[in-house]
Amino acid sequence: MEISRYSTDYIKKMLAPKLWKLLSEVIGEPVTKNTLRIVIEPPLKVRSRQQHSLKPLQRKIWSDDAPELSVFYGYADELNTLEKWIVTDRCRLVALGGMVGVGKTAIAVKLGRQIQDSFQFVIWRSLRGSPPLQNILADLLESFSDCTETTLPGTSVSDVSRLMECLRSHRCLVILDGVETILETSQLAGRYREGYQDYGQFFRQIGELSHQSCLVLTCSEKLRVIDLMADRNSPVRYYKLDGLRKDAAKQILRDRELVEEPEWTSLIDRYEGNPLLLKIVATTILEIFNGRATDFLGQNTTFLGNQLTEELDRQFQRISRVEIEVMYQLALASQPLTRSQLRENMPSSPSSSQVTDALQSLEWRSLIEKINVGGNSLFTLRPIIKKYMFNRFNNN
Ligand SMILES: Nc1ncnc2c1ncn2[C@@H]1O[C@H](COP(=O)(O)OP(=O)(O)O)[C@@H](O)[C@H]1O
Ligand SMILES: [Mg+2]
Repeated sequence: MEISRYSTDYIKKMLAPKLWKLLSEVIGEPVTKNTLRIVIEPPLKVRSRQQHSLKPLQRKIWSDDAPELSVFYGYADELNTLEKWIVTDRCRLVALGGMVGVGKTAIAVKLGRQIQDSFQFVIWRSLRGSPPLQNILADLLESFSDCTETTLPGTSVSDVSRLMECLRSHRCLVILDGVETILETSQLAGRYREGYQDYGQFFRQIGELSHQSCLVLTCSEKLRVIDLMADRNSPVRYYKLDGLRKDAAKQILRDRELVEEPEWTSLIDRYEGNPLLLKIVATTILEIFNGRATDFLGQNTTFLGNQLTEELDRQFQRISRVEIEVMYQLALASQPLTRSQLRENMPSSPSSSQVTDALQSLEWRSLIEKINVGGNSLFTLRPIIKKYMFNRFNNN
């Protein structure tokens, strides 16, 4: 500190009162020698934190592959919960699951836009095309270049460590959409494809290490790392979307200009409030049934159509052999089955743990439903999937 030319007495008696008066006016609260620290420190701290972390460095990178949402209905409770997890509870890793078309990508966009001001950096990346982790890391580091000036490229520090350093020093929101593209097909759910195992390690580090950022993933299969680490007190959480509620689902049908609104409820039930499925059937109803849901429902069958079948074919390709067998048995059964009933019915006599793994995997893919009856778990196919399985029987 500089040595002052004034005497201590002069400062205390002449200058200090002026300073207290000036500070009191500026801050709007009485300031004296004794209250100085209490009054002045909190506002200054808040201000300096905001200046340091929010203002100069804010950057949002919504790459072209983030869909623009022209409309977004419902999912308000879901959005509130997710916002709370990320903004209030400061979760480090949040995975969004649910069946294809249920709206995982859409809600991730909506959520990101809704909470982006709580972050200095917001980055959206789709995993379409299955990019290797190295590419994603390089991309993220480039986007974060403002906070990585400390290490030069080519030094021995790994990209993961450099990225973790960014996630520690800044509050970043990273959204990776469509993680299923890096998962193995014809295997139990949640296994990485050959050459993509390092993603698992990366996700685990994000969940385990201390930092102030959040990674949001969307994935049609539940990942093992999420299954192991997620619970309500953990900074790692899993949210499974189960479809739109009636009012929101009706909006989708209304936008497609369907008529006979009273009939829509059973349509929505049949397609489980899944926005993609509802859009597809609504288009068919409009084009073939003149928009009349009754005529369509009068067919008394769950219509799937080409587009939907293709979506489900894609999902079906991902499934392991034992899972397929389980699905056939569940499709044939007129009632939900217990695990042991199911196993008895299966011609290949799989081991008990194979059946357990298959059931768990099918649940992670949102293809089956588990019902609890008197403490027993019964398993059944979701209605849409059952219809799909019947179509497969008949076409093969
Ligand atoms: N809440 C919603 N309101 C309106 N449309 C929605 C909503 N959620 C999803 N959609 C639409 O449904 C379709 C499937 O959604 P998407 O997010 O791609 O599903 P997922 O990622 O789960 O496969 C898209 O056309 C999307 O715009
Ligand atoms: Mg998606």
